[in-house]
Amino acid sequence: MFTTAPTAQTGPKNVLPKDLFGAIEALKKEMNAVILAHYYQDADIQDIADYLGDSLGLAQQAAQTDADVIVFAGVHFMAETAKILNPTKLVLLPDLDAGCSLADSCPPDKFADFKRQHPDHLVISYINCTADIKAMSDIICTSSNAVKIVQQLPTDQPIIFAPDRNLGRYVMEQTGLDMVLWQGSCIVHETFSEKKLVDLMIKYPNAEVIAHPECEPPLLKYANYIASTTGLLNYSQKSDRNQFIVLTESGIIHQMQKKSPNKHFIPAPPIANCACNECPYMRLNTLEKLYLAMLNKTPEITMDEATRSAALRPMQRMLEMS
Ligand code: 13P
Ligand code: SF4
Repeated sequence: MFTTAPTAQTGPKNVLPKDLFGAIEALKKEMNAVILAHYYQDADIQDIADYLGDSLGLAQQAAQTDADVIVFAGVHFMAETAKILNPTKLVLLPDLDAGCSLADSCPPDKFADFKRQHPDHLVISYINCTADIKAMSDIICTSSNAVKIVQQLPTDQPIIFAPDRNLGRYVMEQTGLDMVLWQGSCIVHETFSEKKLVDLMIKYPNAEVIAHPECEPPLLKYANYIASTTGLLNYSQKSDRNQFIVLTESGIIHQMQKKSPNKHFIPAPPIANCACNECPYMRLNTLEKLYLAMLNKTPEITMDEATRSAALRPMQRMLEMS
C-alpha cells in the first residue's frame, strides 16, 4: 500500500511525487538508468520506457546498454537475463513477485532428471525459464528466433526443447524435425476460448487472426499469422487489413493501436469471464513501484556467479545465432 504522507527517514522511502512521469525522468538522468519494458506491461509503463520490445529485443538491448542501472519492467526471468548479460550493473525489478507460470513449470531438479534420461540430446531452452535452467541448457531461444536457431542445427541432432510445449510443437511443425518436449505452458496463452474465437471470426469476417506461438494448437490453427509480440506488432502495421483478432496477452494492443490508430484490434477472449488474457505476473509492476524501485535502488536482481556464468554461455550462443 503506497502513501503520499511523509514517513520516518529510516528504511525505504515511499512518498510518491505528484508528477510521477517527471520524477522518473529525473531519476533516470541522475542514476544513468535505462528502462526496458515488455509489451505486456501497463500502458503507462510502456509509454515511459526507453526501449520497448519482445524478449529477444529486450535481451539484445540489455546486452548493449551503457547505462549503469537497468530498470526492468517485465518479469523475473527477463530481469535475470539482463543480470546474466550485465553482472556489474544494478538490475532493478519493480516487483520481485513478477514471476512466470511457464518458468515455474520447469523446476531445476526435475529438469536435471529429464536431461539425464536423454544424455545425447542438445538442450534448447526458451528464454522464459530461470537462470538455473539456462545454466543447464546449450542454447537459449525466444519466440522470434526459435525456428531459425533449430534450422541451423544438424538435422540428425537429437534435441530437448523446454519449457514451453506449445512453442516446441510449433517449431517442430515449422522445421519438420522431431524434438523431446518438456511439458510446460503459459497460463495466459492457454486461456483463450476456441468457441469465443470462432464467434468473433463470424462477427468480424474481414479480421485477421494473429497469434503468439505459446497458444494451444487448436487455437493456432485459426491464425493467419503467428509470431513473437514484435512480429505481431510489425505485421499489424504492414497488413492491408483493418481488423485483427489478437491471440496473445492484451497489453500488446496498446502498442498496436498507437502504431495504427485507424485499425481495430480485438483481444481474443478467455474461456472464463475474467481478465485472464492479462498476465497476472507482468501486471504486478506498476508505475508507482517502478518509481520507488529507482528511488530506493531495490528490489535488485542478484545471483551467484557460477550460475550466472553457466547461464551466459547459452545466452551468448543465442545472440550469435539470431
Ligand atoms: P515474446 O516476448 O518473445 O513475444 O514472448 C512473449 C512472452 O510470453 C513473454 O513472457
Ligand atoms: Fe510467463 Fe505467460 Fe506471463 Fe509470459 S504471459 S510472463 S509466459 S505467464
